[in-house]
Amino acid sequence: MNGNADSAGGRRCRSLLELIGDTPVLRVTTPLPEEHPGFWAKLEGVSPGGMKARAALSMIRGARRRGELRPGGTIVESTSGTLGIGLGYVGIALGHPVILVADRELDDPSASLLRAHGARIEVVDEPAPVGGWQRARRDRVARILAEHPDAFWPDQYNNPDNAAGYTALGRELLEQFDRLDAVVCSVGTGGHSSGIASVLRSHRPGVRLVGVDSPGSALFGPEPLPRVMRGLGSSIHPDNVAYEEFDEVHWIGPAEAAWACRELAGSVFVTGGWSTGAVALAAAWCSAELDSDRVTAVFPDGPYRYWHTVYDEEFRARNALEAPPCVRPHPYRADEARGWSRTRRVEDPCPERTGDSECPVCGRDGARS
Ligand SMILES: Cc1ncc(COP(=O)(O)O)c(C=O)c1O
Repeated sequence: MNGNADSAGGRRCRSLLELIGDTPVLRVTTPLPEEHPGFWAKLEGVSPGGMKARAALSMIRGARRRGELRPGGTIVESTSGTLGIGLGYVGIALGHPVILVADRELDDPSASLLRAHGARIEVVDEPAPVGGWQRARRDRVARILAEHPDAFWPDQYNNPDNAAGYTALGRELLEQFDRLDAVVCSVGTGGHSSGIASVLRSHRPGVRLVGVDSPGSALFGPEPLPRVMRGLGSSIHPDNVAYEEFDEVHWIGPAEAAWACRELAGSVFVTGGWSTGAVALAAAWCSAELDSDRVTAVFPDGPYRYWHTVYDEEFRARNALEAPPCVRPHPYRADEARGWSRTRRVEDPCPERTGDSECPVCGRDGARS
């Protein structure tokens, strides 16, 4: 072979880490369910490790920098999937074994793929009486850490490096848009919404940040109830949620989110899971309400982890998710935990952070810590 290959054009990567981020935006005009001027979808699923590879890399680099994780050291984390994929990705790129604590809702294909990526998977069978599945997984993480004193726990709910991992995403949006009227983010740990807000607020002060949560989640409301959707929503109060940054919050139910995912699949091909369907619906609504085609929604991943839920007719029938979508949100009511609602009064619900009384969600010993 001659040396021409070295001067050839095109993108060639020598490290997996070079593939993280720099994701495109796609214009979406699909009626969801009403007509709207068109919003932009930031396609994080295009990056091989998905959106959470950004957070994983930031948390692992931070830990290595501070000496909390030595070269070759083990990473242990509680995750229902997406961060696990991100950690598997970064673990391979930087040479760290990964142990993931999941719950029994982790589907077999995802578990098999994570194992193929080298992760060891520990599955918890029962939710904790206070703090639900997240709390139960966290307790298992604590046990594993006690057995592996050198291991590092990223603690995605409370680690500021999670949010910091998304400042690049915020900068990409600045490059992609001269003007932005609203950014719509699902909220789970609060990482990507916080990281994006920290960049956008200083450069585009007028931009609205719209959070999308799941009915039954404790993030912005009362005590948690069982939830069908994964990814967005939380049964604990993570420190990474930047409450002061949100102009508005929508709660979108699983029937609406699954419907939106399938509408996207049939109209623009690009689709995803619960959080993608939910942000798409909220973004279409914002685009119509603001009469703006400068609304962006972050699509965190692709459809592939949702074969057995969003895209499974039997699952949808079993969980009564076939109802037609509600056309527009109704005002939020704390006692109602199903369909689509919204509020502009966004408050931190955790009394341990806002005052000094004990939080019934976080529990006496603090599910957040
Ligand atoms: C698929 C998916 N969407 C959205 C989110 C929420 O993102 P964040 O944790 O940055 O708030 C998560 C978090 O786990 C996720 O896995």
